[in-house]
Amino acid sequence: MATKRPSPNDDPEARISEDRLFIENALLDLCDKNPPGIPQRLWDSMTYSLLAGGKRIRPLLCVLSGEAFGVSREDLLPLALACEMIHTASLIHDDLPEMDDAALRRGKPSNHAVFGGSLALLAGDALFIWAFEYARAGLLASGAFSCHSILEALGVILDAAGPFGICGGQVLDTDPLSVGSREEHPWTVARSKTAVLLSACVQAGAILGGAGPEERRLFAEFGDHLGAAFQIADDIIDVTGQASKTGKIPGKDSAQGKITFVSVFGLEEAKRMAEEETSLAQKALSAIERDVAALERFPEMLAGRDR
Ligand code: IPE
Ligand code: IPE
Ligand code: MG
Ligand code: MG
Ligand code: MG
Repeated sequence: MATKRPSPNDDPEARISEDRLFIENALLDLCDKNPPGIPQRLWDSMTYSLLAGGKRIRPLLCVLSGEAFGVSREDLLPLALACEMIHTASLIHDDLPEMDDAALRRGKPSNHAVFGGSLALLAGDALFIWAFEYARAGLLASGAFSCHSILEALGVILDAAGPFGICGGQVLDTDPLSVGSREEHPWTVARSKTAVLLSACVQAGAILGGAGPEERRLFAEFGDHLGAAFQIADDIIDVTGQASKTGKIPGKDSAQGKITFVSVFGLEEAKRMAEEETSLAQKALSAIERDVAALERFPEMLAGRDR
């Protein structure tokens, strides 16, 4: 069974800040030591993007969901870091010239601009794959979880990274022959390239906490709506944001003729849709009888973001 902490009655904002700092420090520690056997340049490329910044939303969601069941952040850490590795891998690939051809990421030159296309491709592959072994080994070593829970949690994340998730979603986003109906396409893309991983992070934390089927369904519903709102906001920020804040070049979606919530529905309607998804996320959460006070802050936090 998972290790239980004394019931945390701390301020939700403080918990989010503490968890974020905990994750950031753990990433620094992880990147500080090149495990023997990984070529130095591959490691440099992997850690360059992992440490380039980022809001750390996915590992935070994983930790906060597990904490809602009383699991300690220390026990959840291997899975949380794996979530950030997978996300970072997807960003490295997303920026490649063959995909979005983006020169700036997290306020720094994108991975391929520094290391070249071959290393960027392989650093992405390495992070995608190593994430699972890193999580498996760390979760087992903690002794806090059953093998069944570990397999279930890893399965949800695996599914989100593969053809049903990010791989499929990125195809729908970048392959002109895979475009569906104009009004449906932004939704299908948002769900499969983005919401799927946010939702998986939420679900995986809850699974490690021992969530039953109905709780898992509610956490999934929360993550799906939160993830849709997140991608709508990302499409909006591409139009309204500034590189100094976002760390990305603005206006790329329209320059590349992307089918986004803004290009299909317009800015105002996209904002309304983000608000609707945000309140649906809150509604799903309100049905969960766990310590979700910190998670409750998330939908509003993400909806109002400018980066
Ligand atoms: C950007 O994700 C890519 C999308 C899925 C929209 P984030 O906005 O979470 O990027 P970082 O991790 O903060 O850089
Ligand atoms: C990327 O979506 C989603 C991923 C799976 C990485 P975007 O292409 O819109 O993300 P940004 O705007 O480059 O961060
Ligand atoms: Mg993209
Ligand atoms: Mg992109
Ligand atoms: Mg975008």
